[in-house]
Amino acid sequence: MKRTLGRSGIEVSALGMGCWAIGGPYAGGANQYGWGRVDDAESTRAVHRALDLGVTFFDTASSYGAGHSEVVLGRALGADRDRVVIATKWGFTFDERTREALGTDSSVAYLRSCLDGSLRRLGTDHVDLYQLHLGDLPVADALDLVGPLEELVAAGKIRAYGWSTDDPERAAAFAAAGPHCTAVQHDMSVLADRPAMIELCERAGLASINRGPLAMGLLSGKYADGRTVARDDVRSQSYDWMTWFRDGAGAPEWLARVEALREVFATGGRTPTQGALAWLWARSEATVPIPGFRTVAQVEQNAGALTHGPLRPDEFAAVEDLLADLRVATVA
Ligand SMILES: NC(=O)c1ccc[n+]([C@@H]2O[C@H](COP(=O)([O-])OP(=O)(O)OC[C@H]3O[C@@H](n4cnc5c(N)ncnc54)[C@H](OP(=O)(O)O)[C@@H]3O)[C@@H](O)[C@H]2O)c1
Repeated sequence: MKRTLGRSGIEVSALGMGCWAIGGPYAGGANQYGWGRVDDAESTRAVHRALDLGVTFFDTASSYGAGHSEVVLGRALGADRDRVVIATKWGFTFDERTREALGTDSSVAYLRSCLDGSLRRLGTDHVDLYQLHLGDLPVADALDLVGPLEELVAAGKIRAYGWSTDDPERAAAFAAAGPHCTAVQHDMSVLADRPAMIELCERAGLASINRGPLAMGLLSGKYADGRTVARDDVRSQSYDWMTWFRDGAGAPEWLARVEALREVFATGGRTPTQGALAWLWARSEATVPIPGFRTVAQVEQNAGALTHGPLRPDEFAAVEDLLADLRVATVA
């Protein structure tokens, strides 16, 4: 299964791999922004397995693990770099050496210097999709970056760009301002439909790159046994956007819905994560889910969704019946 990344013409596998977790721990003061300890050797094997299974799209960010995610991804890809499409992001500042999160910077100077850092860590001379990571930046500030982004396209340092934001109005303004803006990355899963964003992507010819497609792991069903994540895992934090986990455990009201979904997905021979990904593909032809991973086994299961393809219309309807009024309140 393939997708074209919006109006760029860049072709990717319909599934991308999200590389946040493989950056390992990083923090700003008491705030954890990583997914706890990871094994770089396993992350490398997992990237290789993804390539074997036909995955050609990888999403990372300069700030994940304060640069470590890009280093691990770049090394793992090695000579295969030109077979794949790499998306990364800029906007957060960090100390690569101490792995500390520092703050944000939306200046043109940082846009350029952060890209140079990403190119160095990834071991490449261009980024395929460069994404603004500051989802709530005022539109006027973002529009000041469009000219410099178009210059980077002309210079061959990036092929296309987009904004990681959950706000359709911001995404629409950015896309209207620059011809090489081709994607919006936004939160979306079977538990959190985003109709206004999907409508924009379909109308404006943008890829809808879906982060959190597994509700941060909750949709796997494994948190039903009450297990908790490590203290240096972002899911242990009580940020106001932390919908799916509470005190490091799956939020009970959502776990019940995940359990009900398991049965619907199993009738089509899919595991819960495969069903969650298949729902996104059935929802719109613009979607490209990018599930995070930390092991070979997770990559194998998630990439296995590609062979099943989108949910059939009757399966999709069964999910809609089940979740009718039970999704995250859709404000946008
Ligand atoms: N602002 C932004 O731009 C932004 C924000 C968030 C995410 N993202 C991007 O979107 C990607 C995906 O989002 P996400 O990582 O937040 O969440 P996600 O994809 O919904 O969940 C990923 C997590 O689920 C668990 N998992 C994955 N496959 C599994 C399987 N087959 N069986 C059981 N557990 C499985 C793993 O964690 P455990 O094994 O530890 O449970 C994994 O780290 C990120 O990696 C990143 O690239 C971007």
